[in-house]
Amino acid sequence: MRRRWTAVAAALLVLVTSCSGEAAETPEPSAKQRVEVFSWWTGPGEGPGLMAMRKLFEQQNPGYTFVDAAVEGGSGDQARALLASKLQANQPPDTFQGHAGAELQGYITAGKLEPLNFLYDELKLRDAFPPQLVEQISVHGEIYSVPVNIHRSNVLWFNPRVLKAAGVSGAPRTLPQFLDALGKVRDAGRIPLAIGPQWTVVHLFESVLLGSLGTRAYNKLWTADADWSSAAMKKALTDFAAILSMTGPPQTDWQPAAKQVADGEAAFTVMGDWAYAYFHNKPDTGLGKTSKTDFDWAASPGTEGTFMWLSDSFTLPRGAPNRAGALAWLKVAASKAGQDTFNPIKGSIPARRDADTSLYRNYLEWSLSEWARDELAGSIQHGVVANDGWRAAINDAVGIFMENPDVAELQRALVLAAKNSGQ
Ligand code: GAL
Repeated sequence: MRRRWTAVAAALLVLVTSCSGEAAETPEPSAKQRVEVFSWWTGPGEGPGLMAMRKLFEQQNPGYTFVDAAVEGGSGDQARALLASKLQANQPPDTFQGHAGAELQGYITAGKLEPLNFLYDELKLRDAFPPQLVEQISVHGEIYSVPVNIHRSNVLWFNPRVLKAAGVSGAPRTLPQFLDALGKVRDAGRIPLAIGPQWTVVHLFESVLLGSLGTRAYNKLWTADADWSSAAMKKALTDFAAILSMTGPPQTDWQPAAKQVADGEAAFTVMGDWAYAYFHNKPDTGLGKTSKTDFDWAASPGTEGTFMWLSDSFTLPRGAPNRAGALAWLKVAASKAGQDTFNPIKGSIPARRDADTSLYRNYLEWSLSEWARDELAGSIQHGVVANDGWRAAINDAVGIFMENPDVAELQRALVLAAKNSGQ
């Protein structure tokens, strides 16, 4: 959509300048100048961080032109589908955003990425990132991407005024407390829990699984000892069904769902911390709301002490049309300046360990301290623990459950998805 509008605007500009008789065009950047950066960061709370890093890239690389190949749609489901077909046809962008973990491993084993060990050596990046993160982007000692941030998935965002009006004394810490709070909000005539499209419900699902099973059992789900057919899993899915029955009408993406909370139409939403950027950033790039007064946050119920993480990283696809330009982009993304420019606006914390922590305030200060001390669990929806096929199968199962909330059926589908995952 956005690209279409850009094209229309460009056409109009050509028309206007040629009508005015002026020397019309700025020449199109050549293939050696243009650096096509593929992501899904377009909307408020998403696009502005990318644009800030773009500005830095252009300042540092006046010979290159950043070409924004972002495809609209939170969580990148549409973007990833298009990317898969581009990679399949050997028409990669110069660089693309991919999640550290199982999602990236899929691209690696398909032979789509160049290893970046030489860049890690040149920029001394091995020490810059946490070792467990580098492991997630490596295969057989080769490192395949540059992580630009750490996002947190298990965050409960809420409107303190709506909670107060409904007689809820504070953020619920356990799943039973959460259900109780949701019920009170419903009785007070507000939407208890705001959701967006299907992927946001999978996002909610991963937080409920973590909260109900506990961290150790959740992490085990992605190992050879997993048992998706357990009674504990049945209980988690029953919790999920109860929570899902408290959701409002699905919104078109995560931003309108978050806005329902900011506007006081809804009490809660469970969303990654990109929502912080949207709530907090100034009105041109976000809602300009005040932390703790207009909106507040807590670990999603039952998950205190665990950081369910994900990391956006940039890659060097094999056959990138402008390899040198892509490397210039990766250098900016890897740098302290790049990460400290991008992350405070994106609502994430830096992947680098030497960032300027004074730049991370409010929610981000909390996130930095939690990241330093919490146990870790990986996100399903955002590519950490399950490969793309498995994630898609979980998505389908949750989608069917939204239509027909049959716990036994959902559990059967999840058992099958795990069995067929090939992971
Ligand atoms: C995630 C991504 C985040 C954020 C979010 C919502 O998958 O890692 O950076 O963009 O989707 O679109």
